[in-house]
Amino acid sequence: MNKKARKTLCLLLALVMLCTFAAGCSKKSEEPEQDTEVAYTIDNIREYVIGVDEPVELNDGTMQPLINFDNAATTPALKPVMDAVDEEMRMYGSIGRGFSQKSNHSTDLYLETRETVLNFVGADPNDYTCFYVNNTTDGLNKLASALIESEDDLVLCTRIEHHANDLSWRERCQVIYAEVDEQGRIIYEDIERLLTEYEGRVKYVCVTAASNVTGYVTDVHRVAKMAHAHGARMVVDGAQIVAHRQFSMKGDTPEEDIDFFVFSAHKMYSPYGSGAVIGPWEVLVKHMPEFYGGGIVKLVTDYDVKYKSAPDVYEAGSPNYPGIVGMAKAMEVLQEVGFDAISEHEKILNRRLIDGLRQIDGIILYGDCDNIDDRVGVVTFNFEDINSYILAARLTDTGGVATRRGAFCAHPYVWRMMGISDEQAATYENCIDMNTPGMIRVSFGIYNTEEEVDRFLEILNNVVNAMRSTENFNLGAEPEF
Ligand SMILES: Cc1ncc(COP(=O)(O)O)c(C=O)c1O
Repeated sequence: MNKKARKTLCLLLALVMLCTFAAGCSKKSEEPEQDTEVAYTIDNIREYVIGVDEPVELNDGTMQPLINFDNAATTPALKPVMDAVDEEMRMYGSIGRGFSQKSNHSTDLYLETRETVLNFVGADPNDYTCFYVNNTTDGLNKLASALIESEDDLVLCTRIEHHANDLSWRERCQVIYAEVDEQGRIIYEDIERLLTEYEGRVKYVCVTAASNVTGYVTDVHRVAKMAHAHGARMVVDGAQIVAHRQFSMKGDTPEEDIDFFVFSAHKMYSPYGSGAVIGPWEVLVKHMPEFYGGGIVKLVTDYDVKYKSAPDVYEAGSPNYPGIVGMAKAMEVLQEVGFDAISEHEKILNRRLIDGLRQIDGIILYGDCDNIDDRVGVVTFNFEDINSYILAARLTDTGGVATRRGAFCAHPYVWRMMGISDEQAATYENCIDMNTPGMIRVSFGIYNTEEEVDRFLEILNNVVNAMRSTENFNLGAEPEF
């Protein structure tokens, strides 16, 4: 090839490369910026939930997508949440510790998310701050370790509580418990009675915003008013409310305001291991948790430590940045979907499921199944003649349905609902799960559908019929009491 031909070829190649680059650029700019274009609604949100169509293997070797009815335990990730986390990884740097553009970026975003969190629960940043934790259990323990000053401090819990909002206090101070009624609702008058009986002694009233066993939503503002009238502060376990109902720290009057609110992000479609505690500046600055290390000090000398103030002093160690980015994004998406729509959707699923379950012989349903307005999407049941452990296993193995079976880390409440005395329950300490009493729980997420409820009822009917028609079907039946 002569010099002229080589020159022409080079020019041609350069032209082709230029055109390819230009085409690539214009294609990129045509791609929709997913986040800004999508409007998330209760009708389309299923498309943005990771893994809903992922097949799982059943016992017979067939593959089918799981019907995930175990959302009270944890929720799958939302795609926009995962995208937000991925996107932020490009500019990830150490939080509050580094000298770099990335570190500055991450630190700024980390600090900004505190406002997102406060805003999500209607907390005025002038009155409240928040600190980040791993989950609700971590948050309640940190809070209790900060607030409880003596073993003689008195805390009022209820018998509806998850262990996280019971043992965190029980192991550190004196706890008295308000009872639940026959349908499992908190008896508000019992809270008032105890506050009066122990007048002025109760320091904190600790109540869940929604039960993980029956789904009952607590009127926490009513309880806050009672607590404040007797000189106590109000702590709310928000684990089961954050993805289900609009929650506000603000009541109708200042006496009804909530003092502390604790929740986990993995129950709100951001399973990256984070959560938050929201509380008043006024109180948090006077305490610190029993949790020590870097990031929480102003100065350490050989024999002295000068600690920072809230919220920093509650966050020893390096923060979980992906967890916090994901949590903030999840809040944005949930708000866009709208809590009115979420609550309406859950009510439809609850009603359909309860009505279907009522058609099956021998069903035992827990909680009020007529008036379900104060229940989030949680339904628990049993059968008179069927071991719930075996049934839950069959639902999974042969039906591809995820439920939860057991006492859901709320033993005293579950024993009450099942009519099991404390003495009877105590005999089960060393039992394997199959022989320990328990319920089956279905818990809904925003993406579950009425078709899934119908399919579940069909599978449940088949499994129950198959179990009943098999000799010795109920080996290890629910123990009799
Ligand atoms: C009402 C309630 N509180 C607290 C927790 C504990 O949450 P985590 O496991 O995220 O700490 C749960 C978990 O199921 C719960 O349902």
